[in-house]
Amino acid sequence: MKKLTPENLTEEVLGRLNASPSARKKEVLTSLIRHMHAFAREVDLTPEEWMEGIQFLTDCGHITTDKRQEFILLSDTHGLSALVDLMAHQSDPPNATEASLLGPFYVEGAPDRELGDSIAADASGGILVRGRVTNQNGKPIEEALVETWHSSPTGFYDIQDPTQPEMNLRGRFHTNAQGCFEFRTTRPRYYPIPTDGPVGKLVLSSGRHPYRPAHVHFIVTMPGYERLVTALYIEGDEYLDTDVVFGSRESLVARYKKNERPDGPDVLEWDFVLAAAKVPHYAVPA
Ligand code: BEZ
Ligand code: FE
Repeated sequence: MKKLTPENLTEEVLGRLNASPSARKKEVLTSLIRHMHAFAREVDLTPEEWMEGIQFLTDCGHITTDKRQEFILLSDTHGLSALVDLMAHQSDPPNATEASLLGPFYVEGAPDRELGDSIAADASGGILVRGRVTNQNGKPIEEALVETWHSSPTGFYDIQDPTQPEMNLRGRFHTNAQGCFEFRTTRPRYYPIPTDGPVGKLVLSSGRHPYRPAHVHFIVTMPGYERLVTALYIEGDEYLDTDVVFGSRESLVARYKKNERPDGPDVLEWDFVLAAAKVPHYAVPA
């Protein structure tokens, strides 16, 4: 029997993947195993510390439900989601709108609304959000689906806050013939990621703050174009440079402007530029 040592164990483990039927899976697992072993060696991990790590992962599993995903939060707060996202969009055309994290607060089934509608149960004192969806040449895209959602002025999404009606601050719009969308809403506020679970506690115990800067999420979809998952970040927010999940982007910072009508609400205006689909879209014949 082969004598296993800290020096030869990694190669022994990797050898067990030789019969893997998927070359890509083998490549990914090989690298993951190498890095995990290198990490344990580098920090001289003790059995007690690794049990603490296992307990942490177990706690993440226990708190995860269909409404709460602690593992995504773990990936987000340690920059892995942002890294994967940035790599995936490296070759996007330079004039296309930059992507930003989806996050865990998107929900399916938000209401379809008419242009100009409010997505807030109470939008008094709020803002007007408007803009256009165009292709890379500036041509308006009609009938693009614009989905939006954001936190309340107190920093909570509807699904976290029993005082808000269901689907508050969420809506789906279709652009008009000029590619325009428009809706009324309240001002989003910066907010903390959930700090009542193992990930939030880890962030706090690492001496980090738990906040995301104020932002409005968007998903813009149109056949023939890449699906755009992004967000607008509000200029001046104190957490813009230190977003706990590394999602804020300079190219996505937006400013409230005065309305052209003196009695009108402040305006958040943005044009979204969609990249042509990498895989061509062919209309399905009727
Ligand atoms: C969000 O913006 O909704 C979000 C993104 C990542 C982690 C937590 C929240
Ligand atoms: Fe968010």
